[in-house]
Amino acid sequence: MEGKFITFEGGEGCGKSTQLALLQKYLENKGQDVVATKEPGGTELGAELRHMLVTGDKDKMDATAEALLYYADRRLHMTQKVWPSLKEGKWVLSDRFADSTVAYQYYGYNKKVEKSLLDNLYKIAVGDFKPDLTIIFDLEAEIGLARSFAKASGMVEKETRHESREIEFHHLLRHGFLEIAKQEPERCIVLNANKTIEDLHQDVLKVITERFGIL
Ligand code: TMP
Repeated sequence: MEGKFITFEGGEGCGKSTQLALLQKYLENKGQDVVATKEPGGTELGAELRHMLVTGDKDKMDATAEALLYYADRRLHMTQKVWPSLKEGKWVLSDRFADSTVAYQYYGYNKKVEKSLLDNLYKIAVGDFKPDLTIIFDLEAEIGLARSFAKASGMVEKETRHESREIEFHHLLRHGFLEIAKQEPERCIVLNANKTIEDLHQDVLKVITERFGIL
């Protein structure tokens, strides 16, 4: 049996990583085999790409260079972790995937990158494969950024390269995620993330049971 690939998406500080961990625990308690992973940085080499991408000066590379590096990370992630785990029948929960590239590098940068470049990179790196489900955690940019900077204040090396972009970038990428959901309603579900952790977890479980049945 092939496993399920579920991606968690949203802007900075939307709570998706916390929700991913809670769903992982829930599924494991139900006896499922789960792999929790992330982009960028879900593989050993990908961790080096993550470092390049999320730390340092926000202007150290442009959107096209970013897209290429995120796709290099994605290719490593698919071939070394996601596809092998799915083949073993595991649930793979990924903290971000290709919708982040469209939201950040395309919408966030106000469409400075050709959408066709991103579509071609997807074809090359991922082919026809798609997530079984994508949950988009929607939250006002100002609330998410405040959470994200609070979390980063305790980090030695701050992963705030994108957070430090102007607020307009974050408004655009939020709108981008909502556009993606509109274009692919059968794959994407948008949840209002302005809730308590527990209430949002219940919303996630509702989506999972509706899509995949009672586990
Ligand atoms: P994280 O902090 O949610 O782990 O995500 C890492 C950062 O990388 C975050 O600022 C979003 C950004 N990102 C992109 O800009 N494009 C992408 O394709 C991915 C996967 C992440």
